[in-house]
Amino acid sequence: MKAELINKFLEKYGYEPTANYFTPGRVNLIGEHIDYNGGLVMPCAVTLGTWLCMAPNNDNVIRFKSLNFPEEQEFPLQSSYTKTGSEWFNYPLGVFNEILKTHQITTGLDLLFYGNIPIGSGLSSSASIEVAMAFALNNYFNLGYEKIEIPLLAQKVENEFIGVNCGIMDQFAVAFGETNKAIVLNCDTVKHKIVDCNLGNYSLAIVNTNKPRKLAESKYNERVEECQTALSQLNDEIKLNNLCELNAEKFALHSHLITDPIVLNRATHVVKENDRVGLAAKALNEGDLSTFGRLMYASHQSLKDLYEVTGIELDTVVDFCADYEHVIGARMTGAGFGGCAIALLEKGKEEDFAKKLTDYYVDRIGYPASIYISEIGNGASVI
Ligand code: GLA
Repeated sequence: MKAELINKFLEKYGYEPTANYFTPGRVNLIGEHIDYNGGLVMPCAVTLGTWLCMAPNNDNVIRFKSLNFPEEQEFPLQSSYTKTGSEWFNYPLGVFNEILKTHQITTGLDLLFYGNIPIGSGLSSSASIEVAMAFALNNYFNLGYEKIEIPLLAQKVENEFIGVNCGIMDQFAVAFGETNKAIVLNCDTVKHKIVDCNLGNYSLAIVNTNKPRKLAESKYNERVEECQTALSQLNDEIKLNNLCELNAEKFALHSHLITDPIVLNRATHVVKENDRVGLAAKALNEGDLSTFGRLMYASHQSLKDLYEVTGIELDTVVDFCADYEHVIGARMTGAGFGGCAIALLEKGKEEDFAKKLTDYYVDRIGYPASIYISEIGNGASVI
């Protein structure tokens, strides 16, 4: 891949890049809509991702080019930037804007991006491109950011420059992922543990529903607000910084304070899902994959009934998996509203699974899903 991209850079700019980087996408194994509620999540990096080749120029401009999008853009070097439209280059531009608040970049740059994460599929293509840019600038100019500051900076870009109130999970996972490992991340303290992700006789299948995601950002922000409402009502009786400070038992003692039944459902999901992550981490550690799989199904059910972020496409995939004897667990991953599901699929059954799931899905949804067998890959790196 690297050699191919260097050639593309040469074609686009007429000379070779001086630095090359890779940042992955991620799947979340369990712990959904938990990060902005300060609980535990368990993501891992995948081998799909974003490549970034770059070189300095003498023209005092930043040039954004991509092999995925026709839009190319050039910005003069200046001390701040604002979002312009909804084009892809806003993500790395936001990173420049954030870094320029505290650091100077005095050289123009020619940039070329390429990504193979399906866009809008819930595998964190936006976190991947943000972290790729931040990691690259930190590395290239020796800006002195600590590793943990890179995902925090990228999340700030997503919140403030792009306008999505996401938590830290995606940016953290793509910065810190390790091959064949999962991350158990406490999103309140941003402390993490790297754990073995030994799936034994199973592989991790990713099923992209290929549902065009409409309104996903506004619905996401709506869920964040509903959780804030629950938190502030609970705070009438107890002092909490976030919902995940309560386990299910303690939550039951105070949940009467939440007046709106929909908000109560959202908070119930959060508290129980957070408890599930602890159980899932234990099961994974003990090699108890069938318990892990059951927790995945329970997570999906709760995201369907209480959090209402699944939709017919994701439910169809998970329903199929539940009845397919060679899958022991499946759930949606990421924000939902379309996007991807993951499944623990018995090794050797990949073809059979793809064929049967495709028939089942097309029958009910009208177009096919895309199915990948995913490797668990490494976080942001120089290549
Ligand atoms: C998106 C957000 C994350 C997280 C997930 C849901 O991927 O970017 O911060 O909230 O949804 O778990």
